[in-house]
Amino acid sequence: MIVTVLNPIVATVCQVFSAGYLLLKSYIHNRWRTPIECHCQNRVRGKVVVITGATSGIGKFTALDLARKGALVYLACRNREAGAKFAKEVTRATGNQDVHFLHLDLTDFSSVVAFVQDFLRCEEKLDVLVNNAAIFHHPPKQTQHNLEIIFQTNYLGVFLLTSLLLDTARRTPNSRIIFVSSESHRLVSVRDVETFDPSEPVRVEKFDDHVRLYGISKLSLRIFAQFVAERFPGIQVTEVNPGNVWTPIYRYAWLSWCDMLTRLLCSQLMRNVQEGAQPLIHALNSASLHSGIYLSDNLEVEEKPSYDPAVTRKLVAASVKLVRRYLEGTPKEISVIFQNED
Ligand SMILES: NC(=O)c1ccc[n+]([C@@H]2O[C@H](COP(=O)([O-])OP(=O)(O)OC[C@H]3O[C@@H](n4cnc5c(N)ncnc54)[C@H](OP(=O)(O)O)[C@@H]3O)[C@@H](O)[C@H]2O)c1
Repeated sequence: MIVTVLNPIVATVCQVFSAGYLLLKSYIHNRWRTPIECHCQNRVRGKVVVITGATSGIGKFTALDLARKGALVYLACRNREAGAKFAKEVTRATGNQDVHFLHLDLTDFSSVVAFVQDFLRCEEKLDVLVNNAAIFHHPPKQTQHNLEIIFQTNYLGVFLLTSLLLDTARRTPNSRIIFVSSESHRLVSVRDVETFDPSEPVRVEKFDDHVRLYGISKLSLRIFAQFVAERFPGIQVTEVNPGNVWTPIYRYAWLSWCDMLTRLLCSQLMRNVQEGAQPLIHALNSASLHSGIYLSDNLEVEEKPSYDPAVTRKLVAASVKLVRRYLEGTPKEISVIFQNED
């Protein structure tokens, strides 16, 4: 009886202390250094940029920055009302008339195909694709395609979107594709990616289970990003890690009363959105990054990882299989990646 009562209390205290310790450490470290800021010259003026998940957090801040710098911005958002409203707000705030909302729901493959078709009706080139949208700590759910929701949002939907835009990107000189990653990809192994079956409902009970699911989605994204960098050397691929940033991505995390202290600590000690967006802004504007690198939250460059080509082939082939039927009716030239990937 005593053990049953004490166990959750001890677990909560340990969790709060370990979260507090890690956050405090990074807070103290951040306090005694110059805030992270990208000082690159503006390299996005006049560029056609698609940014996903632009209605919130890091994407929202970056979209405003892009508009301020004179880019032609396509806000790819799942919430129609919020997306259309935000496009108007950005135009009002920046004076940039070339800010457009297009609907995109990564959990619906038909929506991804429709988004690409809508975009290609407006533009013939794509200078930058920013794959920013993602979810974390989502209540367990299978999507309408019977796929685990975090994996589909953070990886499979991005896989399809990127694949369908690759041909346009590779026809555009000096194009870039940026994948917003996360350090949590290091908390899982390639073996976890290989054995993960998104069509099987997953038991998600503890915080660690959420982190594992998110990590699998982000490691899959990393492997795919490296595949794109190798297969399409004409496109500059960058992965960025924003660090721990207090945004609505944590809306479902630490909601129970015993987690409230952790939530409070996170809200106080995590980075703000402005700083969290700097790695992404740096990837958009830097002239010195080469393709395939991973940009840390402190703007440090980590060289390409080397994943076993057999693992990459297996992941890409499995992904192609899962999305193939949604490609029917899309022009051949936009499905370039799907050739020879069976
Ligand atoms: N915040 C952090 O500590 C942290 C750490 C490491 C990495 N990251 C990464 O940073 C990126 C941005 O995250 P954030 O912290 O800015 O989160 P956020 O504030 O929750 O923004 C995520 C965006 O993704 C959109 N989104 C979610 N599901 C979608 C779907 N099915 N289709 C299209 N868009 C969808 C959301 O739309 P709604 O507005 O409609 O919800 C929102 O605009 C993500 O890739 C995340 O993994 C964040």
